[in-house]
Amino acid sequence: MMITARKLMRDVSELPAIPGIVSQVIALLDNPDSNPDKIADLILSDQVLAARVIRVVNSPIYRGTSEITSVKRALMHIGFKAIREMILTKYFVDAFKGREQPFDIKTFWLHSFNVGAVARRIAGMVGYRDLEKAYLAGIIHDIGKVFMGHYLRKEYGEMLAGIDGTQYRAYEAEQEFFGTSHSEVGLCLAQRWNFPPDYCDTISYHHTSERAIADPLLTAIVSLSDYFCLTHDPVSGEPLELSGPPDRSEENAWLVLKQLSSRPLDRDILSFFAALSGDYAEIAGEVQVLFRVLTRD
Ligand SMILES: [Fe+2]
Ligand SMILES: [Fe+2]
Repeated sequence: MMITARKLMRDVSELPAIPGIVSQVIALLDNPDSNPDKIADLILSDQVLAARVIRVVNSPIYRGTSEITSVKRALMHIGFKAIREMILTKYFVDAFKGREQPFDIKTFWLHSFNVGAVARRIAGMVGYRDLEKAYLAGIIHDIGKVFMGHYLRKEYGEMLAGIDGTQYRAYEAEQEFFGTSHSEVGLCLAQRWNFPPDYCDTISYHHTSERAIADPLLTAIVSLSDYFCLTHDPVSGEPLELSGPPDRSEENAWLVLKQLSSRPLDRDILSFFAALSGDYAEIAGEVQVLFRVLTRD
């Protein structure tokens, strides 16, 4: 199956580009000893990016009492973590901008951002060491879908129409229709973009969490967050009617979560989700605000 994914990637002459700066920022993010000044320098080396930082820092989510006009001050005001998060998320959205899709791209990104935000919440609940990494891994977990949707537009649209209103999952349907899946295609893309192994693993195994190697806890967090977001209403937090039960990958993810959590999680998966449901409306509301700022030009 991986051969099919690689062939698909080879057949596409112009791949969506992620600027080199994004891989550099991800690498810095992964290194706890990295010097924060390096991030400031990276931002200043890209005028478009520097302007974007200034605009976001002055948007209603972050704005303080006075307007901020320098990148250094912006960094001090909202912090490096928020800036890194902003750069990365914005570039992912931009990479696929204007590329036709057989599905609503806004809904796709809202799902991705919700999965990121819920993954960050779960990461906090289990004492995972890097909340931001969980957030970012959540945002990019389905990146293969935008690739397949764009380059196999007609067939992918037909596949989606075929499973609409059923409990059939896109992941399963893709394997039957195309002989590969968004997980494999996403892995090829992530490798092409030089993402660190933890992110590659999560993209590759979020539907087969039992195969995760690099960071099984991170993959488990994203897998459960994905399932939660697909099966719960972001406004009411209530389970959706058509939701199927957790599959083998999600059951495994729950076991991994319980095993590797540094805080006791003695409840079952349903009570765990019930606890998340209570916060989901608030999380999804914040995501909507952030999403509006990031996608405005
Ligand atoms: Fe997925
Ligand atoms: Fe997903």
